[in-house]
Amino acid sequence: MCGIVGIIGRKAVAGHLVDALKRLEYRGYDSAGVATLEKGTLTRRRAEGKLRALEAKLEREPLSGQIGIGHTRWATHGRPTERNAHPHATEKVAVVHNGIIENFRELREKLGKNGAKFGSETDTEVVAHLVTDEMKKGKSPIDAVAATLKQLRGAFALAFIFAGEEDLMIGARKGSPLAVGYGSGEMYLGSDAIALAPFTDLIAYLEDGDWAIVTHAGVEIRDVNGHKVERPIIKSSASSQMVDKGNHKHFMAKEIHEQPEVVGHTLAHYIDMTTERVQLPIDLPFDWKNIKRLSISACGTAFYAGLVAKYWFERFSHLPVEIDIASEFRYREAPLFAGDLAIFISQSGETADTLASLRYAKENKQHVLSVVNVPMSTIARESDVVAPTLAGPEIGVASTKAFTCQLAVLCCLAVAAGRSRGVLSDQDEQNLVRALIETPRHMAAALSLEPQIEALARTLTNCHDVLYLGRGTSYPVALEGALKLKEISYIHAEGYAAGELKHGPIALIDETMPVVVIAPYDKSPRREGVFEKTVSNMQEVAARGGRIILITDPKGAREATVESTLVLTLPDMATTVTPLVYAIPVQLLAYHTAVALNTDVDQPRNLAKSVTVE
Ligand code: G6P
Repeated sequence: MCGIVGIIGRKAVAGHLVDALKRLEYRGYDSAGVATLEKGTLTRRRAEGKLRALEAKLEREPLSGQIGIGHTRWATHGRPTERNAHPHATEKVAVVHNGIIENFRELREKLGKNGAKFGSETDTEVVAHLVTDEMKKGKSPIDAVAATLKQLRGAFALAFIFAGEEDLMIGARKGSPLAVGYGSGEMYLGSDAIALAPFTDLIAYLEDGDWAIVTHAGVEIRDVNGHKVERPIIKSSASSQMVDKGNHKHFMAKEIHEQPEVVGHTLAHYIDMTTERVQLPIDLPFDWKNIKRLSISACGTAFYAGLVAKYWFERFSHLPVEIDIASEFRYREAPLFAGDLAIFISQSGETADTLASLRYAKENKQHVLSVVNVPMSTIARESDVVAPTLAGPEIGVASTKAFTCQLAVLCCLAVAAGRSRGVLSDQDEQNLVRALIETPRHMAAALSLEPQIEALARTLTNCHDVLYLGRGTSYPVALEGALKLKEISYIHAEGYAAGELKHGPIALIDETMPVVVIAPYDKSPRREGVFEKTVSNMQEVAARGGRIILITDPKGAREATVESTLVLTLPDMATTVTPLVYAIPVQLLAYHTAVALNTDVDQPRNLAKSVTVE
């Protein structure tokens, strides 16, 4: 993930910018840069590779400016060259950016027609040109940024400095994190408190849609509508450690909120944003065309990610998929044919059952691909090839961001398989990739439902059982929602395929049992009528006095007019990406129920983050 820092100081800031960037190295990067104001002129130093390359450059060509921004870039749009490294700048403004500007292509085209000359292939550079255009129209830097932010679509964080403005730095947050640091006579911006720990422990986290006008004297924070707002200043504990909770009460909350950023980051690793094609960052030791059957195994939440992937692989690549809970796979004597593919999914990379299954698959001459979050883990080391999830450290025992990152990786793998097996056309691939690129923005919209979900969660605290229903890829999301609730709130919950309602669980329904229905309106022609079938299931629940919580989109909300239904409405999106986005409300529902019940959210009783015994 890209890292952002900004300093308005009293002495030369370049060295401090680099120090702060070093603390963001853990996020991963492949080039870096800083910009400062040298006698009012924006001046940059950028270098490909690690920070020592930038340091060497600064030694050769020092900067003395007392205001500056810095960046570690993790390439998304364009290769990790010096030219593409941030900051990007015109003669008027310099900008650093983390995240994805979804509509950069249209903006770039429009700006190009008006004569803008681009020096890089990045999406970021359009931001510098948009601000410049607005300033050329006579707007102040603050008004130019306000006008620019309105034109950008995506999930991102930005920091700006301006030519001739020694006392102005602007930061903006929409989806990706950004914090303001308070020093004495100095002010800071940073991707997290860890970056700013050497300078200050007084931090205000910007909320989604906020932007901050920073001067030596302090900061004015405005919300998405331009209204002045106050954000609490908290004392950060980041100084001694590299992982902290930010302004969240629990790691789990922080990890739920990180999802637009880490999923964006993971997608950027697997997608060429410029061509809108899947581009795997790994060399596969097999050809998808020669695979006859795919076996997936995993445990817990990772298993549910695999279950979603089964639908994707079958739909996009026409590969027959078998999926097993890892502890079952190796003992059920499944015939495996040499040269087929086995995929193992694990956040920790250490889960004993998953590892045992992997070894069994290897003995049976399967190609072994693992989707893991911990790169040096045993599962990673023993696999033929590793497809990493870039979720960053996950501390909460109940998995959240690792799950959605696993989905992001698995979806890209399924698309790659579909393309190589000739099932997906170029156009199909592009449509799917576009849908994936928009996912972080939809995830940010899902997070904005939190106040509503928190209120809803309080009504679940005295329930003994909760049922979760879904069809298609929403079925694994229902299973995951039920798992999250039982793991951390200790309320019994079950996930069911909605079609199975009549084959058992309907016997349990009465007015004390809430039923969470996960049902985006499915637009795909082959699954016509699926949504209506789910609405029938809701009718069956309502007829027995059951209380329904429906998670859907605007069309679904209009069509499902069943009594005693509370609706959580997410944005309209491509059906393929719904599991990534619909995971968020079920995570939040479990989280807030657990908080209301005052359980140990990050370390629930009896559970372990990494289960290393069979
Ligand atoms: C434990 C954790 C779960 C996790 C599962 C699989 O049960 O509490 O959150 O989903 O293990 O772990 P893995 O590290 O293999 O994904």
